Amino acid sequence: MTSTASSPIDPAPNQHSATGVEKPATMISLQGVTKTYDGSVIPAVDSLNLDIPEGEILVLVGPSGCGKSTTLRLINRMIEPTSGRIIFDGEDVTSVNPDLLRRRIGYVIQQIGLFPHQTIAQNIATVPRLLGWDKAKINARVTELLDVMGLPNDFKDRYPKELSGGQAQRVGVARALGSDPAVLLMDEPFGAIDPITRDRLQNEFLRLQSELKKTIVFVTHDIDEAIKMGDRIAILGEQSRIAQFDTPERILAYPIDDFVADFIGSGSTLKGLNFERVRDIDISTSFPVVSHDTSATEAKTVLDASPERSLLVLDAKSHPARWLNDKDLAATPADLLAAGVEVTSTLPMHATLHDALEELLMSNAGQATVVDNSGVYQGIVDIEVLADVLKGMRAAARRHYEVHVDSAGQS
Ligand SMILES: Nc1ncnc2c1ncn2[C@@H]1O[C@H](COP(=O)(O)OP(=O)(O)OP(=O)(O)O)[C@@H](O)[C@H]1O
Ligand SMILES: [Mg+2]
Repeated sequence: MTSTASSPIDPAPNQHSATGVEKPATMISLQGVTKTYDGSVIPAVDSLNLDIPEGEILVLVGPSGCGKSTTLRLINRMIEPTSGRIIFDGEDVTSVNPDLLRRRIGYVIQQIGLFPHQTIAQNIATVPRLLGWDKAKINARVTELLDVMGLPNDFKDRYPKELSGGQAQRVGVARALGSDPAVLLMDEPFGAIDPITRDRLQNEFLRLQSELKKTIVFVTHDIDEAIKMGDRIAILGEQSRIAQFDTPERILAYPIDDFVADFIGSGSTLKGLNFERVRDIDISTSFPVVSHDTSATEAKTVLDASPERSLLVLDAKSHPARWLNDKDLAATPADLLAAGVEVTSTLPMHATLHDALEELLMSNAGQATVVDNSGVYQGIVDIEVLADVLKGMRAAARRHYEVHVDSAGQS
């Protein structure tokens, strides 16, 4: 069995060059790379073709033992491939001195792996020292990285065992960034920490990456982390076979086979809602809306003419104010702002559709009202709008595979 393009449902990454316009340059390319460990007959990684896009986070995700760490270690030749080629920035590095290669690639190892008998400063300075930087330059870099990672300067002289798990993870990342390498390999860098700290480290790291624009290969076995961190995701099966390689949005909208669907698990549709924002969709404007100074009789005519069960009343500033139904209006209130139920919360245009879903489930009326920055009413998101968007996302992803993958699958 190989992970090359033999199956029509096996979109190896080089097939995705068919997507052309949206794919960045390749920084590292694994070409037919196989690793069989000494004493094993079954390869841990089998004929892997993988293009790692420049300036992005590529997440390798897959079940335990499928070969993620092995793949990562092959990239910087911590372990030697049994066969195949590794191209780094256009250069065949399959047989260059691996020490030189490793100085160009930062590595955050699974279980953090700080050197226990070295101080935090010495840990962070590992690669700069190997590169022969002078003391002042190293010291400045260590100070800078502690600051970037949100760690106090007086951690310099501490030892790894004097840090919390989350702090040690940050030092691990700082060490990998030591010599400002273009490429970072991260093996479950936020693995063994509590969910809240983990969430914070992920957010900090994403913010950092939006400035650094490193080429990053990030390994995890957690699909939610993959969806959050990845610009692209490679879902791996046994022996690092690539089951699907794509953006998180498209994988969620269109898992290519049962293996991927099972791995993503239930709720993939809902997770996909995180990738769309209210401002990017058509928000229903046909919803019945009246101004606060409308008479109850007039408002009733508006509601009667609409299929909806309630209407929205806007206040003098055009902010959503009240939901009124048939019964509220039948009592012909003199002041619409004193009738019905209050609109207790609204959605900004930059909210995600996941936020919108939460909002409409919580709202009194089963819809979410959208407002601009000054709180002025813009439209309504209801369950039908969301269903349409989801259908659209699925159809677009399916079309993408029909156009780009089927044709490439022939080659
Ligand atoms: N040094 C080694 N010698 C022999 N076999 C190894 C060695 N390292 C890993 N393996 C085997 O290679 C396969 C892939 O291991 P690898 O560590 O790459 O998996 P992984 O996907 O990173 O798993 P996890 O999610 O548990 O970290 C496994 O079957 C493992 O037992
Ligand atoms: Mg591993």
